[in-house]
Amino acid sequence: MEDRIVSGSTNYEESAIEQSLRPQTLSQYIGQEKVKSNLSIFIEAAKMRQETLDHVLLYGPPGLGKTTLATIIANEMGVNIRTTSGPAIERPGDLAAILTALEPGDVLFIDEIHRLQRSIEEVLYPAMEDFCLDIVIGKGAGARSVRLDLPPFTLVGATTRAGSLSAPLRDRFGVLSRLEYYNENQLANIVTRTAELLEVEIEAQASHEIARRSRGTPRIANRLLRRVRDFAQVRGDGTITTKMADTALELLQVDRLGLDHIDHKLLKGIIEKFRGGPVGLETISATIGEEAHTIEDVYEPYLLQIGFLQRTPRGRAVTELVYRHFQIEVPKE
Ligand code: ADE
Repeated sequence: MEDRIVSGSTNYEESAIEQSLRPQTLSQYIGQEKVKSNLSIFIEAAKMRQETLDHVLLYGPPGLGKTTLATIIANEMGVNIRTTSGPAIERPGDLAAILTALEPGDVLFIDEIHRLQRSIEEVLYPAMEDFCLDIVIGKGAGARSVRLDLPPFTLVGATTRAGSLSAPLRDRFGVLSRLEYYNENQLANIVTRTAELLEVEIEAQASHEIARRSRGTPRIANRLLRRVRDFAQVRGDGTITTKMADTALELLQVDRLGLDHIDHKLLKGIIEKFRGGPVGLETISATIGEEAHTIEDVYEPYLLQIGFLQRTPRGRAVTELVYRHFQIEVPKE
């Protein structure tokens, strides 16, 4: 996948920057009102009963704050968080080592939990259900299974694809929370908050301009803010004015709706080569040179959300909105 400023995904260095800007409590966290109010009740109830919080599954597109919420859950419960990810756990023994090192009440955060191997998922089932670990000792006829007690803990799983999770794993989460794209006002508030933390002045309208072009995604909003801040520092006096934000975003080639050259290639490809579709995902993938699962996980969700793409049984089709956005005449039936 190419590097793109409007990607919801992140990398190691950006994660470190994000960490320093992250809200630490539910009250600092902007947006996702339903998820927040449910979580705050479940957290308060667990604390009143002096129990661990039930296991939580957070799902939704990348960049909406799943990792941030996991950290907040641990903070609000007053416990430590241990972080790992589906692909990082290679053998059942890796997971066993993580589980046995937990302290009572800890949050274990597994990012990209849909990428756990089946053999490893099976270690999780008794751990989630009964806080124990079944270990096989020895080989062949002499092998026997031993149960090991674990400290009670809360598993927080995050995934961009709830549908890819096996049913037995999904069923073991007591709380399932879906994160939604943020609206313009929420994103503008997030931009303003981050600008304050970065100690950069920003005009209210400039926060909105950045918000509008952030595809409903805080990670993108904060990334655009940092790039616009660079322009303001080099080309201006450091203050992010509305005009400066506009110019910078133009130069970054992020259009009015936050679409970049890859979205343009995808949408125009469907119009120009397939008369607007429907066309199969694999065919689009071959035409624009992006992997099918990347199109499905990264590019498509926002285009579906804003009504630019439709999924039909025969493939993807663009809608009239796309023709209007590009000022192309809508074809007659
Ligand atoms: N930074 C990134 N996401 C945020 C959110 N939802 N609330 C506050 N600050 C954020």
